[in-house]
Amino acid sequence: GQSLGVHLLDISWYTESMRAGHPVVITDRHKLQLNTYVMELHFLDEDGRGVAFRRAAAVLKALPAQVTSMSQLRGLPCLGEHSLRVIKDVLENGESSEVESTKQSERFKALKILTGIFGVGAKTADRWIREGIYNLQQLRDSGHALNQAQKAGLEHYNDLNQPVTKAEANAIGEIVQKAVISVLPGSQIALTGGFRRGKLTGHDVDFLITHPEEGREVGLMSKVVSWLESQGFLLYQKTTRNSYLESKDGPARPASNMDRFERCFSIFKLTKGEEQGTTQPEKNGVQTMDNRLWRAVRVDLVVSPISQFAFAVLGWTGSKLFERELRRWAGHEKDMSLSSHAVFDNKQNRYLRATSEEEIFAYLGLEYIPPSERNA
Ligand code: GTP
Ligand code: MN
Ligand code: MN
Repeated sequence: GQSLGVHLLDISWYTESMRAGHPVVITDRHKLQLNTYVMELHFLDEDGRGVAFRRAAAVLKALPAQVTSMSQLRGLPCLGEHSLRVIKDVLENGESSEVESTKQSERFKALKILTGIFGVGAKTADRWIREGIYNLQQLRDSGHALNQAQKAGLEHYNDLNQPVTKAEANAIGEIVQKAVISVLPGSQIALTGGFRRGKLTGHDVDFLITHPEEGREVGLMSKVVSWLESQGFLLYQKTTRNSYLESKDGPARPASNMDRFERCFSIFKLTKGEEQGTTQPEKNGVQTMDNRLWRAVRVDLVVSPISQFAFAVLGWTGSKLFERELRRWAGHEKDMSLSSHAVFDNKQNRYLRATSEEEIFAYLGLEYIPPSERNA
């Protein structure tokens, strides 16, 4: 690998500490600092501070030892004035008064509840709050016209805010596998997202679909979705068309990080107990309060042509922050534009082909970083 600039989060700094034999320790205390304190501030983010906090959090997360004094943080990248103030408060007082008061504010609580609805982002939530809507009941009573996604999000609110387990992800994987094989034999699926990074739970399950013969993947998504629908597996789906082939400016317009694969945001109806081939045991013969036999699970499907598959896998494995930093590294350190479709070398003025993630890391001058180390 290359040496790194301090501006980087950092991928190589991170891997170097791994290589030096430091385990990346994420103690409960770190989690508290990171996830509870630093991360939650991003809800208040109206001016891009969210990313700054995420970077700061990722730096702390990658430290080989628990932080006990501010002096340990000297010289580290990405820790801005505001993050340092929060960390200092946590170290000195056990908690950050700023974060605590934020978390207790009605506005913050409402933002959390409303953005917990699938299809509702911070902007919409903020607008509703300004209209006096602070919870789901007030939203229902408001008579606001909701779009299809939001309606489904509201309807399945509890399920969708319940973490998806690895077993559930596997069960969904089997269904998706069956769907693609049924509509186009030879098609392949790959688990991406957090589960590919080894996370034990997630907010959704992400899959990439392809076919080893270039071009055969065209039209695949609608067939897969129809199959799933006909089998009663879908509670909601929205498919967006691929704009990649239609664009005249060639593949993966450099500097654009919006990808153009055909994709489907969906909500699956997963039969409970199916995930491990067992049924839920009844307690003393009494059914639990929630006696439904299924739950709703968010699933993302993306179709990629085989020629772009390696880039798509890399781009959809995440984490989001890791992807951001990897693209930044590509641009700043290598003068290359990386997307989920391709990597463009600005110096050679050409696209570089790759059939594996390993090749892409090599182009970027980085040692291969396995998915489990991409949890920044
Ligand atoms: P959880 O789902 O919360 O467990 O985490 P996750 O890391 O799987 O997050 P998520 O499912 O939101 O995203 C998975 C990966 O897909 C991340 O690397 C994202 O960068 C990528 N991704 C999600 N949405 C988009 C999108 O609209 N465009 C592109 N290009 N990538 C996306
Ligand atoms: Mn995911
Ligand atoms: Mn997703």
